[in-house]
Amino acid sequence: MLQNKEGSQVPQVTFRTRKDNEWLDVTTDDLFKGKKVIVFALPGAFTPTCSTTHLPRYNELAPVFVENGVDDIVCLSVNDGFVMNAWQEDQHAENITFIPDGNGDFSEGMGMLVGKDDLGFGKRSWRYSMLVNDGVVEKMFIEPEKPGDPFEVSDADTILDYINPNAVQPARISMFTKPGCPHCTRAKKALQDKGYKYEVIELGHNGLSYSSLAAVSGQGTTPQVFVDGERIGGADELEAWLGAK
Ligand code: BEZ
Repeated sequence: MLQNKEGSQVPQVTFRTRKDNEWLDVTTDDLFKGKKVIVFALPGAFTPTCSTTHLPRYNELAPVFVENGVDDIVCLSVNDGFVMNAWQEDQHAENITFIPDGNGDFSEGMGMLVGKDDLGFGKRSWRYSMLVNDGVVEKMFIEPEKPGDPFEVSDADTILDYINPNAVQPARISMFTKPGCPHCTRAKKALQDKGYKYEVIELGHNGLSYSSLAAVSGQGTTPQVFVDGERIGGADELEAWLGAK
């Protein structure tokens, strides 16, 4: 039975991290003392749900968390420091602090260390998130004890809603591009100039072709820009949309 630790101190642990090709010990106090910190813990670096959903959304919402008084966002997994650093680089998750709980000491102290032997994973962290205030757990969102790997409550949006239900969220912008497309360069610059972050889906990679672009947008030219699921159009339409903001 997983225990809710709201009101308790987080476990005192020394994490062995890697920085600039050296060992760097990071303690619980280094991470939490005098700070408001979000921790989200997950079963493993590079695993599908963690890489496509759990981590990216925390990274995306990091500036919103900061605007709402959060000092740091920690991603914790029972992996070693080399793996955690490689995952951070792969994910371009520069807004998140990656903490390797390789021996599982922190996860065990939180009562969240579970056996995933069926997957050949050994002992790992159960998926959860928490808000920690000066080393004390203020709020926890623990995934329900169901078989498999439930992902229902430890997501970034749920904890943001707890911290501030009225928090203003950034627009989700995606842009279909192709290499060497000058209008794509113009569209990217227009977004950057206005401080918008965006995700690029580049044709010609990962098996993506104009067929995918046509299937999603009904169009045959790049760029095609989508904001919060709505198609804005090419560079001219994007500039008009930005001008009207
Ligand atoms: C996943 O993130 O999808 C995952 C996590 C643990 C085991 C298998 C998959």
